[in-house]
Amino acid sequence: MDPLADLQSRPFLPAWAYRSARLASAERQRYANRFWHPLACSSQLPPGSCLALSLLGQPILLSHPLDGPPRAFLNRCPHRGVALQDPAAGTVACRRLVCRYHGWTYGLDGVLLAGAREADFLEPFERSAWPLPALPCQVLGSLIWVALAPDPIPLAGQLDLVREEAGPLLDQPRVLLARATQELACNWKIAHDNTLDDYHVAIAHPTTLHREQGPVRHYRYRLSRYATLLATPHPAGGEFLTFGLAPWTHLLFWPDGRLALIQFLPKDLGHCQMDVALLGRPELEPGAQAWLAEIQTFLAEDQTLVEAAQIGYGSGLVPGPAHRLEQRILQQQALYRELMGDELIASS
Ligand code: FES
Ligand SMILES: [Fe+2]
Repeated sequence: MDPLADLQSRPFLPAWAYRSARLASAERQRYANRFWHPLACSSQLPPGSCLALSLLGQPILLSHPLDGPPRAFLNRCPHRGVALQDPAAGTVACRRLVCRYHGWTYGLDGVLLAGAREADFLEPFERSAWPLPALPCQVLGSLIWVALAPDPIPLAGQLDLVREEAGPLLDQPRVLLARATQELACNWKIAHDNTLDDYHVAIAHPTTLHREQGPVRHYRYRLSRYATLLATPHPAGGEFLTFGLAPWTHLLFWPDGRLALIQFLPKDLGHCQMDVALLGRPELEPGAQAWLAEIQTFLAEDQTLVEAAQIGYGSGLVPGPAHRLEQRILQQQALYRELMGDELIASS
């Protein structure tokens, strides 16, 4: 079946779906937990280091043992739950993790190396019964991907279009050049929709993103089960590839290998956190702040729009007709409906 005709039969989400506390609490289990999340650039985690951060309110610890690939754990000592590293510390060079509460010591592979005063536990003590709680973790495209549930969809499936279309660009070694985080006063779905919306670019970003993407007649689309692509010819040769991926992730590849990662993480019903990370070859470092400023210019144009839409959606909006240039929104919303369950959306 023609993918566009198929999407036509599934309309936009109703406006109240952006303001439903019931849907928001189900999103975590039914939607976000099915996917992998790019939490860091692998250059942030050299062998013999740890990095604490959080994802959807969960404390996460990334580690990179000297003799193996990066790992992900809950940042929580199995003894009494204290965090093993402080997220404010950033990347910390270490060979082992010593809990600051009672001194249990772990390897960077999560194995408990020693408890404290082990002979005096009231029952026999087995170190092997107390590893750090591990999370699925993979490195792909210079990014460290982590899942919160034990059974996410395969990462290769989530990134199938990226693998097919970016090809060797995906595997090009990159370092983190710049990053920025900002709160937006809108539901994450409005921000994700907006970044999948190719109908507004010529109007709302005439001197920024539209210049990068060029005339609408040259837009090339591909949709897969979990991902969407808008490819546009780039003035420097090759194509500018804009991937919109479930759950709320956008990967923008320039033909020279630069990669912008943009995510909209849910906070509360009316707010989300926009994370931007810019990656590329280390020699691009001197121009990184100018590049970030460029990206932030069009994202600021979007901020006024998504925050205004948040107010409009709250006043009884019935969404207008779907346009061909909004097919990436329709694809991601059809996937959202499928994973969340139509019956939950109908009854929320
Ligand atoms: S909480 Fe970590 S050793 Fe007790
Ligand atoms: Fe935009």
